[in-house]
Amino acid sequence: MKNNVVDLDLETAYSAVSETYKGKGDIHVACREMRSKSPVFVGDFLEQFGVPTNAGMQQGTRPTFALFKYQDVMSVLRDASTFTNGFIAEGLGAFFDGLIILAMDGEQHRRVRALLQPAFMPETVNKWRDQIDEVIREDFLEQMVPVKKADLMDFGLNFPIREMYALMGFPTDNKEAYRKYAAWTLAMVGGNQIDPEKAPEARRNAGIAVKLLYDAIKDVVVKRRADGCIGDDLIGRLLRAEHEGHRLNDHEVVTFVRSLLPAAGETTTRTFSSVMSLLFATPGLIDRVRADRSLIPKLIDETVRYEPVSTFKVRETAKDVEFHGVKIPKGSFVQCLVVSANRDEEVFENPDTFDIDRKLKPSFGFGFGPHMCIGQFVAKVELNCAINAILDLFPNIRLDPDMPAPVIEGAQLRGASHVHVIWD
Ligand code: HEM
Repeated sequence: MKNNVVDLDLETAYSAVSETYKGKGDIHVACREMRSKSPVFVGDFLEQFGVPTNAGMQQGTRPTFALFKYQDVMSVLRDASTFTNGFIAEGLGAFFDGLIILAMDGEQHRRVRALLQPAFMPETVNKWRDQIDEVIREDFLEQMVPVKKADLMDFGLNFPIREMYALMGFPTDNKEAYRKYAAWTLAMVGGNQIDPEKAPEARRNAGIAVKLLYDAIKDVVVKRRADGCIGDDLIGRLLRAEHEGHRLNDHEVVTFVRSLLPAAGETTTRTFSSVMSLLFATPGLIDRVRADRSLIPKLIDETVRYEPVSTFKVRETAKDVEFHGVKIPKGSFVQCLVVSANRDEEVFENPDTFDIDRKLKPSFGFGFGPHMCIGQFVAKVELNCAINAILDLFPNIRLDPDMPAPVIEGAQLRGASHVHVIWD
């Protein structure tokens, strides 16, 4: 990562985060073994892969356990009063001072979620479909057509940010500003570095990025308030909303928006990389999907089951609980291995086969329960528009035989770094 956070470019910031959260080893293999041998792991399961975890970052502060089975993961994620999120404010959240929805529990979470929810419902999001499609085609893909080859991740890194920041209500006239904010957001996420040599610099950069983002968002919020708090986008809604009986002040709106940024862009980028990789890797699939675009939602859902971006979610126990005879005391960390639950052979037939025709069942790539991804409809519309446009504009698109095939990897954050393609 460059020392100068102000000038950090998006590509560098993204690679640094991928490197930090990639780790070593094959998490699917390790999880399969756990499902068959022992559905509860006592300790920090992720430690063996060398990726940052809350248990690792807050060394020894809480006993830690890991769960692998579908029903166990579902029962934890759905019960937010027994399995809480407040500790997140100590980890990544320590970089923020202010409102972080993911770190909220109980009534506070319910109220804030209700305040945000309308901006993300399908009926709202579907209204933006034409605009999302236009940006994808006109600002990105149409210019690529004559080149006849590309790394699709050059597009994949940029389009979710463009769309997402517009939805949040940032001005749309400065494209470079989006890339800058996104790079700073990634520097913030990259602050959880476990390599002792890199940790001090990563933390320092995260601290600088947090401040740079604060100032940039503050400028937007102040201007939007002065302009009358209008607009149907997220900032407009927050400026008009009430939170716990009072109107949000500028500091609260800024910290709230800033805490949403890490959830909004990179997740869609990584999911895009996996969708495209699996679309090309599965024999006959691209021809089927090209001919029948109604298969795209199934393609996205199966990708999110088969290769969830984020391999695990952590909760803290608010009381003593027990799983499969293992007692987990109050105040423990419970790591829910989403990547394992999504391939539980007791729930999914042939779970290691990528099959877009499988019967739809809930899986956990967008989470589950009260904290389930609020932005999933946005992400799905964007991905749908992107896949459709790629199939429309790039005739006979296929993997570039002269370049390495895409590899979906990562012990904590999964995705492919490159998807090299050619077309006629
Ligand atoms: C394909 C892309 C995406 C994936 C895979 C994804 C995944 C997730 C997951 C797994 C959670 C649950 C976290 C937990 O339970 O601990 C979550 C929560 C969340 N996501 Fe997404 N997300 C994506 C896109 C988005 C987008 C586009 C937004 C929009 C701004 C967004 C905003 C959020 C927020 C605010 C939460 C926290 C909700 C809460 O705590 O109530 N996500 N996401």
